[in-house]
Amino acid sequence: MFVADLPELPRRLAAADPGWSETTDVLVVGSGVAGLTAALHLREQGLHVTVVTKVNIDDGSTRWAQGGIAAVLDPLDTPAAHANDTEIAGVGLCDPAAVRVLVEEGPARVRELIRLGASFDRNADGSLMLTREGGHRADRIVHAGGDATGAEVQRALHEAVRRDPWIRLVEHALVLDLLRTADGRACGLTLHVLGEGSEDGVGAILARAVVLATGGLGQIYSSTTNPSVSTGDGVALALRAGAVVTDVEFVQFHPTSFVTASVTSVQRPLISEALRGEGAHLVDETGARFMVGQHELAELAPRDVVAKGIHRVLRATGADHVYLDARHLGREFLEQRFPTIVASTRAAGVDPATELIPVAPAAHYASGGVRTDLRGRTSIPGLYACGEVACTGVHGANRLASNSLLEGLVFARRIADDIARDLPPQAEPAHPAADAGPGWVVAPAVRAELQRTMTRGAGVLRSADSLSATAKELTRLAEQRDVPRNAAWEATNLLTVATVLVAAARTRRETRGCHWREDFPGAEDEWRGHLLHTLDRRARLDQSFEEMT
Ligand code: SIN
Repeated sequence: MFVADLPELPRRLAAADPGWSETTDVLVVGSGVAGLTAALHLREQGLHVTVVTKVNIDDGSTRWAQGGIAAVLDPLDTPAAHANDTEIAGVGLCDPAAVRVLVEEGPARVRELIRLGASFDRNADGSLMLTREGGHRADRIVHAGGDATGAEVQRALHEAVRRDPWIRLVEHALVLDLLRTADGRACGLTLHVLGEGSEDGVGAILARAVVLATGGLGQIYSSTTNPSVSTGDGVALALRAGAVVTDVEFVQFHPTSFVTASVTSVQRPLISEALRGEGAHLVDETGARFMVGQHELAELAPRDVVAKGIHRVLRATGADHVYLDARHLGREFLEQRFPTIVASTRAAGVDPATELIPVAPAAHYASGGVRTDLRGRTSIPGLYACGEVACTGVHGANRLASNSLLEGLVFARRIADDIARDLPPQAEPAHPAADAGPGWVVAPAVRAELQRTMTRGAGVLRSADSLSATAKELTRLAEQRDVPRNAAWEATNLLTVATVLVAAARTRRETRGCHWREDFPGAEDEWRGHLLHTLDRRARLDQSFEEMT
């Protein structure tokens, strides 16, 4: 069924013909946990790998992750218990087979990461220190540097990649469009590399398989925990190529981003859920703990429940934040266990040992994305997706805390195994289909307007009216065309993913997980399934619903 009343979307980005080309066995796009882990496993299979990344190797979301990696590492914990918590958080939309893969293979992948050099926090007896976060009923989160887990994971992977001369790293490379063979198989990408010798830096990398590991899309909103590179590039590219994307309406809002006038960027500092895991409380302006009585786990309920609880307080009080009270945890403990958070709040004049921390929800994680099977294969042969850009089925309607780094580790390995099992020879790309047209892009200024309109109408709380107004606004923004350049390509990717999100959010007339419809407050059995989207050859957005079996 075609979706009406939404902007037209490009099937190609406007760009010059590639002025240079090179070849590799496998092209990995993105340099966070998913991309770098995939690259390292592909090397174990003896393949040559090229990793392209939009800015610098460490600039993605991974290094910002604080809480940790969830995995069954305590002998008293079980994969079944981890699966159960994951599925409860996912509110009926997790794929049980994918969840089983995640929880059963996770512990081995974490141990591999330790062997690679990642150093996680340990108890005095040398055992791994495990903590708890929202939605978990056991202590199963490993962490590093207290609250700097992502930075340590990124450091270990980065160093391993740099040690391998057969991994070519191309930084400052924005991917544009997928190249396909005459019979439809992915065989490379066009991309723009800053500083590349040719006239405008547009080139092509041809490969026998392509892995998208481009991360999330939090930059469609005005406040997000995601860095500025998280512009939905992989989902938008996959859509333009005709791949199936799914569950895009389920964007998770992290309950506790730091609210401070001193941060003026769209990216807001995260206040890790682990702080609540260690006993911090959410309080309103009168000092009352408003999550108690709303859920049996109170502040440690799944994230969608806590974000909704905060949003209700904000609506009732008109304030732009509630507070996190960590004072009772003590100065010494806070400084040692949460050095990143203490440094960022103190830099803004808030000492968590003596003061309340102002917090509010911010866009954090895309639970949906490019649809894959259990081997990371998308609907386009030769094209794989891994990490936040992918929808493997493990997160359902709401990701469980600290399952994201884990998903990157687990599915990167599966993808490398699948590629090594069945890698065709290099093939020539067909000419882009004439009916994909010359391509177009919107003006860079669309980005800020789009962030405001998405936050107003398609953020934490949605309704038919707010989504219709957002759709109209997106249609107006799509008419602001411009010439090709990096900021315009990114703005076009944001427009593409925002449009699909609004289409899905309008259609899903229920409240489930992190999709909250004011006009349809309950979860409905008839909506227990997935909305799938593709762009057809005429650039029309096709939408279908697939019931869970
Ligand atoms: C956090 O530390 O609260 C974020 C962890 C996650 O997103 O899983």
